[in-house]
Amino acid sequence: MDILVIGGGGREHAICWSLSKSAKADKIYCAPGNAGIAQVAECVPIGVFEFDKLAAFAKEQEVGLVVVGPDDPLAAGIVDVLEGEGLKVFGPRKNAAEIEGSKAFMKDLLHKYDIPTAAYRKFTDYAAAQAYLKAQPLPIVIKADGLAAGKGVTVAYSREEAEKALEDMMVSRVFGESGSQVVIEEFLAGQEMSILAFVDGETVRPMPAAQDHKPVFDDDKGPNTGGMGTYSPLPHIDDAIIQKAIETIVEPTAKAMVSEGRPFRGILFAGLMISPDGTPKTVEFNARFGDPETQVVLPRLKSDLLEIFLAAVDGRLADIEIEWSDEAAVCVVLASQGYPGSYPKGMPISGLAEAGQEGLIFHAGTALGSDGSIVTNGGRVLGVVGLGAGIAEARNAAYANANRISFDGKQNRTDIAAKALQ
Ligand code: AMP
Ligand code: GLY
Repeated sequence: MDILVIGGGGREHAICWSLSKSAKADKIYCAPGNAGIAQVAECVPIGVFEFDKLAAFAKEQEVGLVVVGPDDPLAAGIVDVLEGEGLKVFGPRKNAAEIEGSKAFMKDLLHKYDIPTAAYRKFTDYAAAQAYLKAQPLPIVIKADGLAAGKGVTVAYSREEAEKALEDMMVSRVFGESGSQVVIEEFLAGQEMSILAFVDGETVRPMPAAQDHKPVFDDDKGPNTGGMGTYSPLPHIDDAIIQKAIETIVEPTAKAMVSEGRPFRGILFAGLMISPDGTPKTVEFNARFGDPETQVVLPRLKSDLLEIFLAAVDGRLADIEIEWSDEAAVCVVLASQGYPGSYPKGMPISGLAEAGQEGLIFHAGTALGSDGSIVTNGGRVLGVVGLGAGIAEARNAAYANANRISFDGKQNRTDIAAKALQ
């Protein structure tokens, strides 16, 4: 079967790489892809929002499955459009993708079904939000309702920071329409953990847990990014807590979506906080694979990813076997200077061939330069993945390989997965 993957980041590189190992997969297309994805798929120059062109291409090539990577086309209803053209698509429809597309929707859903999450209020009126904020204890969390490239959340430790975040979102509209509604919520202390799951309505097949590092600098300093590095498994978190999170949060949420007439089919990604007493609570839901969570989870998948996608689309997820390796994986993101703010593009990258011999490299923001060499083309440039018997080995492998790669302005955190080894 031929497949079309939509997206062009590190997540999509990991998805294409994993699909390319499937016995059932023939040709893999990726729109628009990137220079690394081109090593495992044929890149097609169509943007993720060009739904009509994507549908026409998929029909012309008679692909057996379309897989959608990023959040924004999902929230805009790409799955409904492609399905309407008779295509088989892995990903949630618009009404289910709203679990990520609107934080207010997500919070109301969890509240209605009594699923653990931080206490919250939502506002469309700036004065009302200001008044409420004044009365809240610090720290306090302020979130733009809609999508904001992972940057729409401020955890404020001072009144000034909180007020500025609210003003930026509701008045200056730094996130555009995404800030027309805000959620102000209780600060949750604890350890963060992500659980991604294959879901086909009520059936939830969780993947091994992973942990992301959102702030750009070591020791969780600096502004939040899309994610600077990940690791899986989480040896310092009890299996019983992970199981509790699945049973009290992920499964009930999938059920709730069915009850609401919005069955979720695709990857449901729960961002969780584990309180010091071991209780998991929901921080967020995403309607797609995480980036860079995918880069550490899929290398641990022993089963055929295409078979799982097809089973999910056909509602057969309960019937298949999904096997995971015991190996640990660590992903270190190499980013451009200035990210998550503005950054230069087109910097030549050296050491890729050598590093590629040593381990997995997933390209996030790369392109082919005019001379055919690979250059930087995004804020997050590469995800360097190390595998090993445990986190320490995987981490050493990832950093050794990250050091083989250089480009002007390269920045990376040096403490990815360090928490797991304390
Ligand atoms: P989100 O985009 O919703 O994942 O939020 C980004 C980051 O902000 C999360 O990964 C957490 O580190 C932090 N965060 C979000 N909500 C809360 C909360 N209620 N309490 C503490 N930290 C939070
Ligand atoms: N790494 C976090 C995300 O994909 O949302």
